[in-house]
Amino acid sequence: MKFDKKHRPQTLADVVYADAAVEQTLNDYAHNQRDKHLLLHGPRGTGKSVSAQLVLNQRMAILGQTGLTDIWNAKAYQAAHNTFEPVLTQWNWQLSMGANSGCSVFDEIDQFTLPMQHKLRAFIDRFEMGMVIATTNNLHLVDGPLKDRFRPLFVEYPSVQQWVPRVVAVLGAEGIPVTPTQALGLLQGFEGSGRTLDDWIEDYVLRLKRMMAQLTTLPSMPVQSSPQITSNAGEQ
Ligand SMILES: Nc1ncnc2c1ncn2[C@@H]1O[C@H](COP(=O)(O)OP(=O)(O)OP(=O)(O)O)[C@@H](O)[C@H]1O
Ligand SMILES: [Mg+2]
Repeated sequence: MKFDKKHRPQTLADVVYADAAVEQTLNDYAHNQRDKHLLLHGPRGTGKSVSAQLVLNQRMAILGQTGLTDIWNAKAYQAAHNTFEPVLTQWNWQLSMGANSGCSVFDEIDQFTLPMQHKLRAFIDRFEMGMVIATTNNLHLVDGPLKDRFRPLFVEYPSVQQWVPRVVAVLGAEGIPVTPTQALGLLQGFEGSGRTLDDWIEDYVLRLKRMMAQLTTLPSMPVQSSPQITSNAGEQ
């Protein structure tokens, strides 16, 4: 299994947020305490798509069903549909299975053409039994009146310090226990997205495993210290 898929956050608590207010708002949505349409925007690799999926999963947890929490990529959706009937169908299924209200996710909503964005606006004005969670990293491409119907939530990059628990958790799951202080040391100079972080951790795990394999096959070699995650900020 791909490294990033293996360590994909399973709950909102696994996602690292720069801003505690953003985390609180997402938890409110996950627990059905907010119902206004939600628009997650911000730079690439900050956890917008994974957060949208996890909020949807949590809102539908009561259903214990698969298939009612599938999310749509806007471009792929528009290639297959020119109305929002499938959303209505998803909401109706969710409601009939016991959900409080319907919920659908559109990833990269800016990839809808302007006429399709107008249709979405008309759709959400007409049907009130569900909400839409959308993501984008091109907020300026979302039509103003459509944007206005959503609560915007800016998801930005966490600091190096904030990434520490994720590094500890992922390395621990790979059988490499490190303390938060050690994790912070490994992250010195790190800058980048959550995806870049996953790549960095994978590189570290592979280097460490190779080094351990060499040590066991060549017992007379001198022991070296653990490799550091080195900075290659800017490479993404
Ligand atoms: N804040 C985060 N906390 C934990 N993991 C993260 C975070 N951001 C990204 N990741 C990791 O990177 C992967 C990709 O994240 P995701 O697709 O949610 O980013 P995105 O913000 O939607 O990016 P894009 O703007 O490019 O669509 C996640 O599955 C996860 O493994
Ligand atoms: Mg995304």
